[in-house]
Amino acid sequence: MDKFVIEGGERLKGTVRIGGSKNAVLPLLAATILQKGIYRIGNVPRLRDVETMIKLINILGGKTKWIEEHRLEVDTGQLENHVAPYEIVKEMRASVLVLGSLIGGLRRATVSYPGGCAIGERPIDLHLKGLSMLGCDVHIREGYVDVTAKHMKGARIIFDTVTVGGTENILMAAVLAPGETIIENAAREPEVIDLALMLKKMGARITGEGTEVIKIKGVDQLTPCDYEVIPDRIETGTFLAACGITRGSITIEKCNPSHIKAIIDKLRETGMEIIEEGETIKALMTKKKPTAVDITTMPYPGFPTDMQAQMMALMSISRGVSAIRETIFENRMMHAAELRRMGADLRVIGNTAIVKGAKMLSGAKVMATDLRASASLIIAGLAAYGTTEVSRIYHIDRGYESIEEKLRGLGAKIERSKEQG
Ligand code: UD1
Repeated sequence: MDKFVIEGGERLKGTVRIGGSKNAVLPLLAATILQKGIYRIGNVPRLRDVETMIKLINILGGKTKWIEEHRLEVDTGQLENHVAPYEIVKEMRASVLVLGSLIGGLRRATVSYPGGCAIGERPIDLHLKGLSMLGCDVHIREGYVDVTAKHMKGARIIFDTVTVGGTENILMAAVLAPGETIIENAAREPEVIDLALMLKKMGARITGEGTEVIKIKGVDQLTPCDYEVIPDRIETGTFLAACGITRGSITIEKCNPSHIKAIIDKLRETGMEIIEEGETIKALMTKKKPTAVDITTMPYPGFPTDMQAQMMALMSISRGVSAIRETIFENRMMHAAELRRMGADLRVIGNTAIVKGAKMLSGAKVMATDLRASASLIIAGLAAYGTTEVSRIYHIDRGYESIEEKLRGLGAKIERSKEQG
């Protein structure tokens, strides 16, 4: 198993380029199942989750080929299998995104029911309820969700909770369902918009993406297309937090500042200077210590839960006391205990962490528990005195492409090395 060894204390300086969005590309790849044919998807990040989705498409009968470093060709011409097996879904929960596209494309889906994960229970009841409302027969058998769709029809679906994956699955199932589907309380995340834009390029009739009400008029057929993935807003935010904690001065290229307004606003409150210029952000930490800010995670356009752990690292050396409240997932504070091992002064009460800015952090051996927790420990390590070793970094490879190389490019002292034993 690999680990990261970080020598803290270097101020980040220089330029970093952001890759394509993990959470956008996964549903876009799933969407290629909707209509048989050849798709070329550009700005695809080389991540373990992307490899898992590719493996799943191959198991279903699709063919995939990297035609450039970040451009993937997907051929779903022969895709006939409708079973997403346990072995894949247990690797990556987002595999469940093939539910909607298998229903749309093959009218049949058998997908292993995803279990809980480190950050919460994460049920898919709303996905299944939505599919039932579209006229699908949904059964749970032997750990699998088995869905048949003989008589699909448009429906009005009101989600109890804002769900990103649920909105994406219903969008994909509804584009080829006769009649009109209305999704209310829909997720407004940029990744949902990206999926809607690709589906529209394929000929789907969708309006309202990016608002709480999405309307879909079913069509008989779609056409395969080529598409470019949006930049990863969480990778962008992670580099901004790393810049803040090291009192750095960096330029971030190929990002979309309009997708991270809530993050930029919070970081400005901490004392960072952030200049947005088209696809570029210039960030500079002028203060010796960030000012403490309170954070509450919310669905988009609110502050993203996927940036909560990284902000906790930044707040651990702030001037003042910060309250960080997690409202999306019930168990997303596991990094708190690891940060404490590095000298962070924090208490978790229910879903809120009270973080008192410590004078400094000190390097320690810590363990990554999930993807964004890993990012937060790396950020803390960059500012800590001494050496930090972050183990179980396989989590980070799920969602960050060559994070250590990108950080080294900014002057950080970080190495990947093999763990003993
Ligand atoms: C997606 C993102 C993830 C991000 C999350 C919230 C991908 C691949 N992953 O996950 O990085 O942290 O959005 O922004 O895009 N819920 C239910 N029933 C359901 C569905 C969801 O109760 O049927 C609950 C979940 O348990 C959670 C909340 O709704 O508490 C939000 O989850 P959801 O938006 O669905 O997250 P994902 O799509 O799984």
